Amino acid sequence: MYKTGLDFAKELDQNDELASYRSQFHIPKDTHGNDIIYLCGNSLGLQPKTTKSYINQELEDWAHLGVEGHTEAKNPWLPYHEFLTDSMAKVVGAKPIEVITMNTLTANLHFMMVSFYKPTAQRYKIVIEADAFPSDKYAVESQLRHHGFDDKAGLILWKPRKGEELYHYEDLENILEQHGDEIALIMIGNTNYYTGQFFDMKRITALGHKHGCMVGFDCAHGAGNVQLNLNDSGADFAVWCTYKYLNSGPGSLAGAFVHERHAHDKTLNRFTGWWSHNKQTRFNMRHEFDQLPGAEGWQLSNPPILSLAAIRASLDIFNEVGMEKLQAKSRKLTGYFEFLLKQLGEDTIRIITPENPEERGCQLSIQVKNADKALFDKLTASGVISDWREPDVIRCAPVPLYNSYQDVYNMVERLKKILN
Ligand SMILES: Cc1ncc(COP(=O)(O)O)c(C=O)c1O
Repeated sequence: MYKTGLDFAKELDQNDELASYRSQFHIPKDTHGNDIIYLCGNSLGLQPKTTKSYINQELEDWAHLGVEGHTEAKNPWLPYHEFLTDSMAKVVGAKPIEVITMNTLTANLHFMMVSFYKPTAQRYKIVIEADAFPSDKYAVESQLRHHGFDDKAGLILWKPRKGEELYHYEDLENILEQHGDEIALIMIGNTNYYTGQFFDMKRITALGHKHGCMVGFDCAHGAGNVQLNLNDSGADFAVWCTYKYLNSGPGSLAGAFVHERHAHDKTLNRFTGWWSHNKQTRFNMRHEFDQLPGAEGWQLSNPPILSLAAIRASLDIFNEVGMEKLQAKSRKLTGYFEFLLKQLGEDTIRIITPENPEERGCQLSIQVKNADKALFDKLTASGVISDWREPDVIRCAPVPLYNSYQDVYNMVERLKKILN
C-alpha cells in the first residue's frame, strides 16, 4: 500500500534495488544546478554516462586506423551490429535471428511493409488505431497509394467508443468479422503514444492470422518500457526506435523484428542492398544476390557505427538489469505516481491511461480539462520536463532506470501548488 508524504518516497528509494542506476545517467540541471525532474523518457531518453566512451572508442579507432578499422578496430565495424543483437533480442523478447538494428523507425516500417503488405484486388485494406502516431498513418496511407489504392477506402480505423479514449478488443474483432477477407495488414502501435494503452500483441496477432491478415506492431513506446515477448506474440514483424526508453540519443538507429518463421523465406518481396547479402561473400563483389537469413537480411547499407556505439552503451545497461526487474520497478513507480495524482482529488486533471498495470507501461497520460496548456507550461517552468500532446494531454513517464520515487513525489507536489 502506498502512503502520502516525503518520508514514504524516501523509504521507497532506499529500498529500491535499482536506485544506483540513476547515477549512471546524466540528469539535466536547472539554472541553480539542481536535478530537473525529467519525466520525458517516452520522448527522448537520458544519456548514459558511458555513451561518450563507447563513441570515443570508435572515434579513436577511426583516427588511428582509418579504413582498417572495419576489421582491426577493437570492436571491428564490419560485424559491429552483431555486438548488439543478443541484448536487443532480450529487450524485446525475441530470438537473435529475429532482430536487427538499422535505419530509422518509419523507414523500417516501410521496409517491413514491402515484405508483409501484399495487397490483392480483393484483400488490400490496412487496419490501424484511429489515433495512431501520425508518421505511422502517413506511412500506411502512402503504401496504399503506392500500390494504386485509394488511401481513404483502404484504411480501416480501430476507434475508441464515443466519449472514451481507450480501445476495446471486441471492436477490433467486429472489424475483422465484417471485413476480414478484405484486410491485408493489421499495423498497431503496441503501446499507444497518446494514452499509454499497451495492447495484447498475442491476442491481436491470433485474431489477424485467423482472418488471413499479416500483423505488425510499432513498438516505439514499448521497447525498453514493457516486456514485449515478440517471438511469443507470433507477430509477423515489429519496428521500434531506440531514442526513447532505449536511451541512445536523438535520431539514433531503430530496431526491426521479423518472426523466425519468415527467416529463411526467399520468396518474400523485399528491398535489398549489399548488407542483405551473405556476409561471407559480400566483398567478392559478385553480382548474383545471395540472401542473408533472418532479420539481418532486411539491412541495405553498412550502418553508422557511432549510432550503434551509443545503442550498445545503453543495451549493456539493460542487459545487466534485465527487463524483468525493470518492469517490476516500473509498475511500482507508476502505481505510486497514479496513487499520488489521485490523492489530489482534482477534477482539472484525469488520468486516461489504463489502471490495470498489465495494460500500460510507465507512462501516465494526464488529460487537462478544457485543454488548458497553461498548466503544462507552468509545470515546465517549475522544473518538470514532460510533454504536451495535442489536443489535451500531458504525458509523464517515470522511467525505472533513472527516475526516483522522490522525482514522482516532487512532481506531484509542484503540480499541486500550480493547481492551487
Ligand atoms: C509511435 C511512434 N511511431 C513513429 C515515430 C516516428 O519515428 P521516426 O521519426 O524515428 O521515424 C514516433 C516518434 O516519436 C513514434 O512515437
